[in-house]
Amino acid sequence: MTTLATVITGASSGIGEALAHLFAPEHQTLVLVARRKERLEALAKELNAKHGIKVHVIAQDLQEAGAAASLMSAIAALGLSVDTLVNNAGFGESTPFAKADAAKTSGMMQLNMVALTELTHQALPTMIERGHGRIMNIASVVAFQPCPYFAVYAATKAYVLSLTEALAEEVKGRGILVTAVCPGSTNTGFHEVANTKGSLLDKIAESPEMVAEEAYKALNNSKVVIVTGLMNKPVPTINRLIPRRAMTWAVAKMLGH
Ligand SMILES: NC(=O)c1ccc[n+]([C@@H]2O[C@H](COP(=O)([O-])OP(=O)(O)OC[C@H]3O[C@@H](n4cnc5c(N)ncnc54)[C@H](OP(=O)(O)O)[C@@H]3O)[C@@H](O)[C@H]2O)c1
Repeated sequence: MTTLATVITGASSGIGEALAHLFAPEHQTLVLVARRKERLEALAKELNAKHGIKVHVIAQDLQEAGAAASLMSAIAALGLSVDTLVNNAGFGESTPFAKADAAKTSGMMQLNMVALTELTHQALPTMIERGHGRIMNIASVVAFQPCPYFAVYAATKAYVLSLTEALAEEVKGRGILVTAVCPGSTNTGFHEVANTKGSLLDKIAESPEMVAEEAYKALNNSKVVIVTGLMNKPVPTINRLIPRRAMTWAVAKMLGH
């Protein structure tokens, strides 16, 4: 018999970990995915003890080509079918584009866009057949404008936002909730990895728990796009009112190296 599951990528820290705490009380089987297995196992133990739910851990590097297919096979081998997919794993890098490491840049595109797309593509047909499912894709406020010195990262998140909005329209009325989450700067491991630790972005960061709560509510209230944090709410409107070149210049001034 197939059991329905909630799959959360990037659950070993930050926003993904906070989301796992919110999905756990739903009492659906959880699948936690990331590379750091020990962290996932500790979280699985905690959630199992608190909520009495079955929590599976899959250590998987989603930057590798074919990772999404391997992950879906591993999930199927556990006798599980994806009912809720949270595409949260991702990272950024703040750097002048010309100086960016080529392998790191490709890995970022593979993780932030390709793995997210492939997982969604593989999970969606069964959700449509079942007439039920939820997909949460973590984008970012940087999805709304070009971001010099964060160029590739912002472009990957613009992709996530666009894909998610399009998908939400395609599945409208079929019982599937699709939400793009656009957090502003959040106090997680992200800044260490992105080379923005100690920067203005890091200083104005909000808590991952707050981001997760807004994201979780938005998904269940059928919101297609949610910008989390009061300070960030005006970002889409500002980007509609101010010419794109002026916004790009302003962001370059803010993020300039
Ligand atoms: N923090 C912010 O300011 C901010 C703002 C807007 C959007 N976001 C987005 O929010 C999402 C979560 O990030 P976070 O802020 O919570 O940062 P985080 O604490 O660094 O979490 C990132 C998660 O992604 C996982 N991950 C990274 N590379 C992976 C890989 N190759 N394969 C599988 N999993 C991988 C990490 O786990 P392992 O290292 O164990 O693999 C970790 O669980 C990301 O998509 C990020 O772009 C963050």
